[in-house]
Amino acid sequence: MIISSADFGERFDWGVSTAAYQIEGAAKKDGKGPSIWDEFTRIKGNIQDGRNGDHSCDFYHLFQTDIDLMRQMHIKNFRLSLSWPRILPEGIGSVNQKGIDFYHRVFDYCLEAGIKPWVTLYHWDLPHQLELRGGWTNRDIISWFQDYIALCVQEFGDKVNHWMILNEPMVFVGAGYFLGVHAPGKKGMKNFLPAVHHATLAQAMGAEVVRSISPGAEIGTTYSCSYVEPYSHKVSDVNAAIRVDALLNRLFIEPALGLGYPTKELTVLNRIEKYMKSGDEDRMKANFDFIGIQNYTREIVKFAPFVPFIKAKLVKAEKRGVKTTLMGWEIFPPCVYKMLKKYDSYDGIKKLIITENGVAFSDTPIAGKVMDESRVNYLKDHIAQVLRAKKEGVKVAGYFVWTLLDNFEWAEGYDPRFGLIYVDFQSQKRIIKSSGEWYKNFLDS
Ligand code: NOJ
Repeated sequence: MIISSADFGERFDWGVSTAAYQIEGAAKKDGKGPSIWDEFTRIKGNIQDGRNGDHSCDFYHLFQTDIDLMRQMHIKNFRLSLSWPRILPEGIGSVNQKGIDFYHRVFDYCLEAGIKPWVTLYHWDLPHQLELRGGWTNRDIISWFQDYIALCVQEFGDKVNHWMILNEPMVFVGAGYFLGVHAPGKKGMKNFLPAVHHATLAQAMGAEVVRSISPGAEIGTTYSCSYVEPYSHKVSDVNAAIRVDALLNRLFIEPALGLGYPTKELTVLNRIEKYMKSGDEDRMKANFDFIGIQNYTREIVKFAPFVPFIKAKLVKAEKRGVKTTLMGWEIFPPCVYKMLKKYDSYDGIKKLIITENGVAFSDTPIAGKVMDESRVNYLKDHIAQVLRAKKEGVKVAGYFVWTLLDNFEWAEGYDPRFGLIYVDFQSQKRIIKSSGEWYKNFLDS
């Protein structure tokens, strides 16, 4: 079946997503302070190719080129994040006017091009100075974050109407404060549990700050999610899948909806109580206008008695002999439909937006062109599943491709290329891939 963007109706928001540390470069330019990613990437062995975001796509200097490209591709919505340490080099205290001016230039240029900016307030680049004070494990982060948000909304509130508070809390807390494979590289329950609780409070209390300063704004937050299925029908595998689902898909949305943490399925979460103060149950409840869902794949889960706390493990896609991407993730288009249905079934969610979906391959130009038919197929198949959900009445109202430009893919470095636009990181030359051409035609259709 051939689908067109018109099938989704006039009021459906189509766009692309990016994040500051992944595209901006200019890591030390114009007064920007160091972030935890600037520090983490310096340590040998942390990043697969040993590289970092110092220069990346140099969006800091080339934003006009990139916004022009978006215009050329008929992209009307651009999700980007603000770099907290570019705005507040130490996280709190003195403001870096040059950082503020940069974002004003970006927003002005977007608006002139007829492109709406959708702004994520936290996409993982915590000011290093705040990490030295405990980062997300320190409850003070809530007020640091609120002050930063207030500054941003006061500055940019007349140019930005769509705000997202956090990007994928489960990933930055899980990978950064439990597994230690993302910045700041902390490990264990003693870091994970307080970080979970403070991020949960920060998403709700951060949203209130935006609301109080810009009552007409559309406010959301974004969640990573994966469709989770048990490896077999055995009760032990089924229960393992329930635990993994609680961790990956429910941990942050349920307290925001007033349902508390999923402690019944994941008993270790009871230990969060230690970090709770009276009144926190209420403080965790959030009033979001939309929830951003970021989905790429599904996970197959097996009972694993020796894995602490969760007693489950993921069965890697390569072991299952299924089609995978360069990230090793299974290509399974119905996952996005399943996740939309799952989140739609919660009471209290007003609107869902797919704020990220996309795929990494190792694209290479041949005679000046990048023919990424596999990405075109991935996008077509996943967008078709969004339409399937929409036709069944799911309140999905937007879809953003991850991502505009090939960029710094965190611990995986620069090998996985997710962009609709190819970037030569040496020359900073851009080439719209065939997927980018396809997206343009799709948006026109
Ligand atoms: C999730 C993150 O938000 C983004 O930063 C990352 O690059 C993509 N997914 C792909 O892994």
